[in-house]
Amino acid sequence: MSKFITFFVSSVYKTKLVNEKSKNYFLDYLANAKGFIKLHGGGFETAFFKHTPECDVILNEFQEYLSHYRKKPGSHALKIKGKDYWLRRNEGGDFMSIHHHVPDSFSGVWYLKAPKGCGNIVFQNGDASVMGSPNNQHFDDPHFWSMFRITPEENDLLLFPSHMLHYVEPSKTNEDRICLGFNVTVEQ
Ligand SMILES: [Fe+2]
Repeated sequence: MSKFITFFVSSVYKTKLVNEKSKNYFLDYLANAKGFIKLHGGGFETAFFKHTPECDVILNEFQEYLSHYRKKPGSHALKIKGKDYWLRRNEGGDFMSIHHHVPDSFSGVWYLKAPKGCGNIVFQNGDASVMGSPNNQHFDDPHFWSMFRITPEENDLLLFPSHMLHYVEPSKTNEDRICLGFNVTVEQ
């Protein structure tokens, strides 16, 4: 008897992070930043910056996220360190090609401004070897070439394992989308 065995389910943690103090800090940081990196799909990104006290709200959410993975209830808190942070500003038509954040452990994005139509973030099944390959779209198995769209709203926070492939669809609005990206490391 033949059968399909389905495994490797992925999940993204989605929550709301409302913190005007940190948000305003990052918006000011972006407004005053110099030396932007122009991105291939359009938009601008700051250079990586290190952890600041305003980033603590992110790590608190990571602690909550990772607590769902602990093997034993009541295990000691993990040491979560913010490794890289960056700010990105996208305008109409801007997009982001498919990528991952390996070799980091966990990554995320906090939407500081997310006007309607600013571009969905799409998570895609597979690993780095299938990035950009059109071949798999010929198969009907929904698990073989599946993707999941999330329409971002202001204050949405997404946390996910860094290996997950994702991209951003083109923005259909001329209002800025501004988000904070980050990678974290986890220590016992
Ligand atoms: Fe990313």
